[in-house]
Amino acid sequence: MRKFIVSIVALASILTAQAERIESPSGNVSVDFELSPSGEPVYSMKYNDKEIIKPSKLGYELKGNSNLREGFKLIKTSTSSFDETWEPVWGEVKEIRNNYNELLAELEQTSTGRKMNIRFRVYDDGMGLRYEFPQQKNLVYFTVKEEHTQFAMTGDHIAWWIPGDYDTQEYDYTESRLSEISKYHDSAVSSNASQTLFSPTGVQTALQMKTDDGIYINIHEAALVDYSCMHLNLDEKNLVFESWLTPDAEGYKGRLQTPCHSPWRTVLVSDDARKILASHLILNLNEPCKIEDTSWIKPVKYMGVWWEMITGKGSWSYTNELPSVKLDACDYSSLKPNGTHSANNDNVKRYIDFASEHGFDQLLIEGWNIGWEDWFGNQKDYVFDFVTPYPDFDIKELNEYAHSKGIRLMMHHETSSSSRNYERHLEEAYRLMNKYGYNSVKSGYVGNMLPYGEHHYGQWMNNHYLYCITEAAKHKIMVNAHEAVRPTGLCRTYPNLIGNESARGTEYQAFGGSKTFHTTVLPFTRLQGGPMDYTPGIFEMNISKINPNNNSHANVTIANQLSLYCTMYSPLQMAADLPENYERFMDAFQFIKDVPVDWDNSIYLEAEPGKYVTVARKEKGTNNWFVGSTTGNAPHKSFISLDFLDKDKKYIATIYSDTKDTDYKLNPQAYKIVKGLVDYKTKLKINTVEAGGYAISIFEVNDKSEMKGLKRLSSSPIK
Ligand code: NOJ
Ligand code: CA
Repeated sequence: MRKFIVSIVALASILTAQAERIESPSGNVSVDFELSPSGEPVYSMKYNDKEIIKPSKLGYELKGNSNLREGFKLIKTSTSSFDETWEPVWGEVKEIRNNYNELLAELEQTSTGRKMNIRFRVYDDGMGLRYEFPQQKNLVYFTVKEEHTQFAMTGDHIAWWIPGDYDTQEYDYTESRLSEISKYHDSAVSSNASQTLFSPTGVQTALQMKTDDGIYINIHEAALVDYSCMHLNLDEKNLVFESWLTPDAEGYKGRLQTPCHSPWRTVLVSDDARKILASHLILNLNEPCKIEDTSWIKPVKYMGVWWEMITGKGSWSYTNELPSVKLDACDYSSLKPNGTHSANNDNVKRYIDFASEHGFDQLLIEGWNIGWEDWFGNQKDYVFDFVTPYPDFDIKELNEYAHSKGIRLMMHHETSSSSRNYERHLEEAYRLMNKYGYNSVKSGYVGNMLPYGEHHYGQWMNNHYLYCITEAAKHKIMVNAHEAVRPTGLCRTYPNLIGNESARGTEYQAFGGSKTFHTTVLPFTRLQGGPMDYTPGIFEMNISKINPNNNSHANVTIANQLSLYCTMYSPLQMAADLPENYERFMDAFQFIKDVPVDWDNSIYLEAEPGKYVTVARKEKGTNNWFVGSTTGNAPHKSFISLDFLDKDKKYIATIYSDTKDTDYKLNPQAYKIVKGLVDYKTKLKINTVEAGGYAISIFEVNDKSEMKGLKRLSSSPIK
């Protein structure tokens, strides 16, 4: 990670209790900080002189009836400026500018002598604030009862939210006024497998809002390390959000030791929704990369022996018999095979052949290891050992076969949420991966957390996830953790965290379907903290065609699925459907083959939460561009200019779009492909349907003969 420009200017002053203002580099965002007459820390935020966050209190309630909420005096404030440009190991863009002005307010609680500092970083697209606790005699170990960070809203904004829950984010979003969150809470919950709800006005972050005068506000957190994940709980009458941390098994919200600090609490703001999507504020608030040699970290396009299990056609388990002895003592070849085990040698080879023929990097195989038959229905400490294959999965031969065909296998570790069991086996499991040449693992945390009482998003588990990532780095292994805590930009510091699920993924299209606007909300919410392994690429929407006993319908069109490879940014992208479904639509599949997974530049062309997201991305190291436009809950007339193309170059574009007859329910497989010449002057009008979209590949012409027979695309090729 190279630093180009660094400039730090610092000013310090000893102050009496008066309001301090800090402005962003261009002055459009400002934050005011002061102590109330009773010594409570209070901040507010403005955007172009308009109030975004009304005066809001900051502080903590601690175990043992003490608090860090009031009675503070201001010891000192200091300001500084920072401007640096850094290169991510992988990403949406080649270079990221980190430019902010900072205010550090150093506070002391008069009655206890305890010190607590608040640091603000103000950017042109928002701000971050965090609490810092210096090393001190009067505060060494402390237990948090609750963090009380307020975000006082200025009006009854529209919000795109999912219910607060300590254990799952796999919800459909609800769009409502803030004052209606409790009204819609039950219906928001009912469509999902809820785990641990706590309040009818609790929501998860990143929370996207829009004011009546068209300002987009987004609240999330950055750099969640050794701390519990923040939810927001709304005081519906006063429209004030307050932080609500995930508790531990005893109900406490954090065990801290000074010196320490909280994660950043972030607020993005813009009058242009595209700027919310293009923001790098959350990555910027994370520490620079801590992995010295990153040469082994590579974006991955993959297929999987997976969708057939998710749809219920195949099984993860080799057998339906329960072993009568402990798993590692069990001779699996003595158990009766159930005949539906997908991870068998022949089937895996079939997928390897297809994935390698079409240029994929990897093939994920789930259900390769013993324990699945024992896990279903059982919540217990010891289920998986992560090293013993079922008898019909020849780990050595299959890896050799894959390598001989130029691809790798991707490891799968379903932990069954027994995190201690996973930690006990981790080293051996990673060594097995090294031995056979796996360099990436999809891990998962399905079910209630073990040890009992801990939650998926608590401090204890957050430390577990990071432990797995840092141990994996020692083995040069990339991690894609499902059901783990929602990302907060840690992939900047640990770029081997190549993906997370941590939201409602494509799998729900096989569990009954998702709302049509889902993937036009996720870029504003879940993707703010880091890439999602959304697993797009479904070409057969009628799931009963795969498994006659599954009547689910994927509420999307084929063109919509192609668009997601651009709009749902991830360095890890799956083509999730079965090879036989792709074989029926090879011309559309071509886009999945062509689209890269790493970029030099990204330009958001159109965006509105719930409605549409259109982005153009430039492939890493080439002059090729790829455009994706995803449509939400209403048809969209997209109008884009290709003025981002080089003026002196010619390009061949292939547009994959909905047709006028496409319908996500009744005719989802109707699409149109148009190929022609484009340049920087080309303007395109493309109409899409609800849950539809389009994708465009734009290849630089290297040899004039490629242009033969192709016409210049007119401004409206697709009606
Ligand atoms: C849930 C994950 O999201 C899914 O991808 C995986 O196949 C199952 N858990 C089993 O681990
Ligand atoms: Ca999941």
